[in-house]
Amino acid sequence: MCGIVGYVGHRRILPVLLDGLKRLEYRGYDSAGVAWPENGDVKRVRAKGKLNVLEDALEDFRSTKSSVGLGHTRWATHGRPTEENAHPHCDCTGRLVVVHNGIIENYFPLREQLKEEGHTFRSDTDTEVLAHLIEKYLEDDLEKAVMRALKDVEGAYALGVLWAEQPEMLIAARKQSPLVLGLSENECFMASDIPALLPYTKRVIFLDDGELAVLKAGSLKIVSLDDGKILDKEVQEIKWDAGMAEKAGYKHFMLKEIYEQPDAILNTFRGRMEPETGKVELPEIELSTDVIRRLNKVVLLACGTSWHAGLVGKYWIEKWARLPVEVELASEFRYRDLLLDENSLTIPISQSGETADTLAGLRIAKELGSSIISICNVVGSTITRESDGTVYTHAGPEIGVASTKAFTSQLTAIYLLALYLAQQRGTLDHSQISVKLKGLLDIPRIVQDRLKAWHNDASSLADEFYTYSDFLYLGRHLQFPIALEGALKLKEISYIHAEGYAAGEMKHGPIALIDRNMPVVALVPQDHVYEKMVSNVEEVKSRRGIVISVGVEGDEGLQRLSHFMVSVPKVAPELNPFIFTIPLQLVAYEIALARGCDVDQPRNLAKSVTVE
Ligand code: G6P
Repeated sequence: MCGIVGYVGHRRILPVLLDGLKRLEYRGYDSAGVAWPENGDVKRVRAKGKLNVLEDALEDFRSTKSSVGLGHTRWATHGRPTEENAHPHCDCTGRLVVVHNGIIENYFPLREQLKEEGHTFRSDTDTEVLAHLIEKYLEDDLEKAVMRALKDVEGAYALGVLWAEQPEMLIAARKQSPLVLGLSENECFMASDIPALLPYTKRVIFLDDGELAVLKAGSLKIVSLDDGKILDKEVQEIKWDAGMAEKAGYKHFMLKEIYEQPDAILNTFRGRMEPETGKVELPEIELSTDVIRRLNKVVLLACGTSWHAGLVGKYWIEKWARLPVEVELASEFRYRDLLLDENSLTIPISQSGETADTLAGLRIAKELGSSIISICNVVGSTITRESDGTVYTHAGPEIGVASTKAFTSQLTAIYLLALYLAQQRGTLDHSQISVKLKGLLDIPRIVQDRLKAWHNDASSLADEFYTYSDFLYLGRHLQFPIALEGALKLKEISYIHAEGYAAGEMKHGPIALIDRNMPVVALVPQDHVYEKMVSNVEEVKSRRGIVISVGVEGDEGLQRLSHFMVSVPKVAPELNPFIFTIPLQLVAYEIALARGCDVDQPRNLAKSVTVE
C-alpha cells in the first residue's frame, strides 16, 4: 500500500502535492517523493523517512511556478526504504517519471530483458520497470506508450506518469489498486484515496480496473486499456468529511482493516504461486534445497497475535513438510537453554518487524547457527534486516492496534511457506500442492462475499452480549489458535475477560466456570474433530451454558445446540483458520463499540512493543 497524488491545473504544485501526501500518509510512510516539469525537464525530489524530511528537502524549490506534478508516499514492498527506492522513478533520460502503488509480478523478467536492451536501473523496485518499459515504447505520444507498455505487465497497479515533452498532462492507469480522479474548474487531480482530494473537490470519478486516464487542466479523457475506446464515466459527489475519508468511510481503522482482508490476503499470495501447476515461488528464501532437506526442526517465534499465526502454521508445516515445529513465545524463548543448530530454521513472525522480544530471540537463534527466514509486514524493519531472508506480508500499514489484516496475511505467508518447504523437501507432489493453492486462491472472494453477513451477525450478537464480563472461546486442532486469537481480540479492545482454550482441555478446568454468565464461543468446522467439538458443545449446553457457535452453514444439529450461530461456508479443512477468524474479529469490534471503547487505540496497549 502506497499513496499517490497527481495534479494538473492552476495552483502551485508543491503545496497541493505535500498536502495530498500528508492526507495519504496512513497508506505508507517510509519514504516519499515528488516530481514536476521544469524548464523542459522533470525535477524530482525524494527523501527517506516521514514526509517532514521531504518537506525540508523541498525548501529550495518553494518558488517553483509549476502547476503540474506527481507525488508518492511509500510503503515498501520491493526494495528497502531508501532514497533510491523512493518514488517517483524515472527512465534512463530522467525526463519520464512514474509513481506506482501495487505489485508488478513479472518485474524480474521484464527488468532482465530491459537491461539487455540497454536500460540502466537505479533502484531495487518493481516500479522502475514501468518507467523503462514506457520509455521503450515512447515515440511522441505518452498515452500510446503507456497503453502499449501495460500490455507487457502482470500484477497490480495504480500509476501516474509524467513526461517532460508533454508537460501539460498526466497519465493515470489502474488495475487492482485504487485510484480516484478529482474534478474541479480547470483542474484535475488523481489520488489513491479520497482524503487527498477533499480540500479541493468533492466531485470524483473512480477509475476501474483496465482504465487509463489523460488528465489536463481543462479536460479529462478516460479510455479502456483493452481497445483504447473512450469511456463515459459517472462523476460522483462525495459526502464524507475529511476524518471519515481517511478511514474510507469506516468508523474505525480496525473496521476498515477487517474489510481490507480480501485484498491483503490476495496481495500476499499474488505472484508467489501457480495454482495450476502446483508451484510455490518464494525467491526470498535463499536456502538451497539441500539445506531445506537437511532441516531437523522449525521454530516459529513471535508475540501476541503473530504468535497465534505461528500456532496455526505449526499444523501446516508438520503436516505438509513433515518437519517438527516448535512455536515459541519470544519473551520465553529468549531465556531458555535452546537446542538449535545449523540444521534448524527459525521463522520470526512480526507485523512491525520491531518487537523487542522477537528481535532478541532472532539474535539468539542466529548465534546458535540457525537459518532465519522472517515473516514481516514492514520492509526494511530491524527483524527483516537481521534475517537471512523475509517473506513479506503485503497487508499495507495497519493502524488499528488490534491486529486483523496483518494476522490473515501472516496466515497466508505461512501457508505458502509451509507448501514451499513441502515442495523443496518432496513431501508433497505438485498435484497435491495444486489443490491447496487453488483453495487459497478462492479465499479472498469467499471472504469478500461473506463480510457483510458476518458483520450483521456480529452486531446482533453484540446487542445481546455486550454487558457480559467473561467469555470462553473453544476450538480444536487448527481452530484452537483461532479460539486464542478470538479471545485476545475481545480482551484487547472491549476489556472483557476472555479465555481461549483447546476444547478438549475444557474438562480439566474451565468446565467449572460454565454458567449462564459466561457465554461460550465454540468454533465448529466440519473437519476430522467435528464430533469431538460437538460433544464439547453438548457439555456446555448441559451445564446451562450459553453457546455461541461459528459453524458451517446448513449444520442444523449445531444450530439446535446453539443460542446463536454464525454461519461460514464449507472450505477445505486447512483453510478454516482464514474463515473462522474474521467473524470473531467483527464480534470483538461490535462488542467494543457497544461498550463505548476506543477501538483503534485501546488503553494500555501499543501497536509495536519495542521494549521488553
Ligand atoms: C503488540 C500488538 C499486537 C501484536 C504484537 C506483536 O502487542 O498490539 O497486535 O500482535 O505486539 O507485534 P508484531 O509487530 O511483532 O507482530
